Amino acid sequence: MKISGIGSSLPKKVVTNEMLSQILDTSDEWITERTGIKERRVLSSEYVLDLAVDAAQKALADANMDAKDLDYIICANVVNEYVTPALSCIILEKIGARCPCFDLNGACVGFIYACDIAEAYYKIGKVKNVLVVCAEAPAHMLDWHDRTCAVLFGAGAGAAVLTPGDNIIKTRFTGSPGWDRLYEMHDLQWCPYDEKGTTNLPLVMHGQDVFKFATSTCVSDLKALFEETGIKPDEIDTYFIHQANLRIIRYIQTMLRQPAEKFPTNIQKYGNTSSASLPILLDEMKREGKVHDGDMLAFSAFGAGLVSGAMLMKW
Ligand code: UT7
Repeated sequence: MKISGIGSSLPKKVVTNEMLSQILDTSDEWITERTGIKERRVLSSEYVLDLAVDAAQKALADANMDAKDLDYIICANVVNEYVTPALSCIILEKIGARCPCFDLNGACVGFIYACDIAEAYYKIGKVKNVLVVCAEAPAHMLDWHDRTCAVLFGAGAGAAVLTPGDNIIKTRFTGSPGWDRLYEMHDLQWCPYDEKGTTNLPLVMHGQDVFKFATSTCVSDLKALFEETGIKPDEIDTYFIHQANLRIIRYIQTMLRQPAEKFPTNIQKYGNTSSASLPILLDEMKREGKVHDGDMLAFSAFGAGLVSGAMLMKW
């Protein structure tokens, strides 16, 4: 398949490092130096659903496609306001589509998983036009008193319309033990939801372990794709790396011996938006005229599971 339309949506509310340092034992200096993040967006008057629908409509407009022409909607999402129905069902109704739809919880790898599933369905003749929506608000899972996690995440949504083409070159996924490096189930007997439907089980991250997993798996995924396809790292015009930590991105760049200019970042503005991170960045790059027809793009993401995914694509 190929990406024919792309869109993104972010909450209005900006939370700066300075604002967080008023309520947490942290500082702009620490957050900037260790992560690269300067500010993030958090939900205030909006819901995750609003971001998802806005991004989806922008992607459809960019693809010049009517929602009724969609054959499938795949929504990558970890947590939203509803347990059921799936977020994709509500998106479908709001945008006026009439097609099968489902949600996938692929954590930060959700965008690459969704593109891969769309491609597989296309190859067996099931679909032609697929809407992928990645909508996330990891802050729903945070303990805002925990400085080790609260400073890292932000909300956002990115969407892409995939249509027939041979632009997705190859994908690769891994799964490894270590689910408790990103989430800890404190007590499986304990009902995870209070009466308002908000989770009582905050995300707990073993940052250094995840850092090591992220850097090693991202480099090995991309190297494996290069070996399998014969494409060389130098032939990639732009590397889209999951925006979790600027130091992770710089490490990967160094290991691949590529110039920093090939690794665009927006983590400074949005923090880690989980699966939405890659389509938001792609949308920004496209709107700024920084992706061109025929460009070779590499995508790589890692997250809770522990899972990782990578994809090579010609634009
Ligand atoms: O999409 C999900 C994938 N997630 C990731 O990729 C995250 C991967 N991990 C990371 O990005 C980094 O490990 C972090 C940014 C989470 C942490 O950076 P670090 O350089 O690994 O710091 P650390 O965990 O080794 O902590 C160093 C110190 C500790 O204090 P002590 O024990 O040395 O006194 C922490 O308690 O920094 C302290 N610390 C903070 N200090 C100020 C931790 N968080 C903060 C904070 N502000 N927000």
